[in-house]
Amino acid sequence: MRKNIVAGNWKMNTTIPEGIELAKAVVAKSAEVPSDVKLIVATPFTHLYPVAQVLEGTAVSLSAENCADKEKGAYTGEVAANMLVSAGCEYTLLGHSERRQYYGETDAKLVEKTKIALANGLKVILCVGENLEEREADKHFEVCKTQTESVLYNFTAEDMKNIVIAYEPVWAIGTGKTATAEQAQEIHAYIRKVVADKFGAQVADDMTILYGGSCKPSNAKELFAQPDIDGGLIGGAALSADDFIQIALSF
Ligand code: PGA
Repeated sequence: MRKNIVAGNWKMNTTIPEGIELAKAVVAKSAEVPSDVKLIVATPFTHLYPVAQVLEGTAVSLSAENCADKEKGAYTGEVAANMLVSAGCEYTLLGHSERRQYYGETDAKLVEKTKIALANGLKVILCVGENLEEREADKHFEVCKTQTESVLYNFTAEDMKNIVIAYEPVWAIGTGKTATAEQAQEIHAYIRKVVADKFGAQVADDMTILYGGSCKPSNAKELFAQPDIDGGLIGGAALSADDFIQIALSF
C-alpha cells in the first residue's frame, strides 16, 4: 500500500531554539492529521538530536537533509548515516536540487549515499527534477528518467520499500511558481512508469512519489488529488506549523 507523506524541509533555517519551538508546534497540531498521513520534518544536522527529543513518542518522524557518501573516517565536515540514526533519524533526504546545484552532488555520489543510508537502516527520500532551461527545452521527462534510473536502478525491489521519490521541478522551488496539478501529475505518472519498467507494476504502485516546489495550503488539495501525487516535500511553508499542518490536511 502506498503511503501518503507530507515532509517539511527546513533547509538552512532556524536556530536550535527556534527549531525546537517549530517542532513542538508541529507535534501539537499533528493530532488533527489523519493517521494515514505520515508527517516528517527534515532539519539541519545541529537540530536533529534536540528535535528528536521533541518528536519522541509522537507520530512525527525525523529526517536529515543530507548524508555522507562514506561510512566513517577522515572526511572533515561530513555527517555519516549511523550518526544520523543515533541522533534519531528515520529518513534522510538525498539529491535535493540545492545539493546538486550548489554542492556538486552527482547521480554517482547519490548511489553511494543511498547505499550507505539504506545499509544503516535509514529510509531515503530521493529528489529528482528538471531546471527551467530543461523544462523550456522540453527535456523534463528525459531529465527525470535519467536521474531516477541512474540512482534507483542500482537497487533491488526490496530496497525500493525504503525509498520515496520527490519530484521537485527546480523552477518551482522557492519561487512561488507551482507546477500545475496536470504538469506534476504527468511527470509523477511517468516516474512511476520508469520505476515499473525495472521493478514491476506492484513496486511502482506501492512507491510514494511526493511533489515539491512552492506547495502551500492554497494549492496542496489540487496537487494531492492527482492519482500519482502521494503528498509533498514542503520548503518555505514548512517553517510555519500552521501552514505545514494545513497542507497535511489537504488529502
Ligand atoms: P519550496 O521548497 O516549498 O520552498 O518551494 C521545496 C523544496 O525545496 O523541498
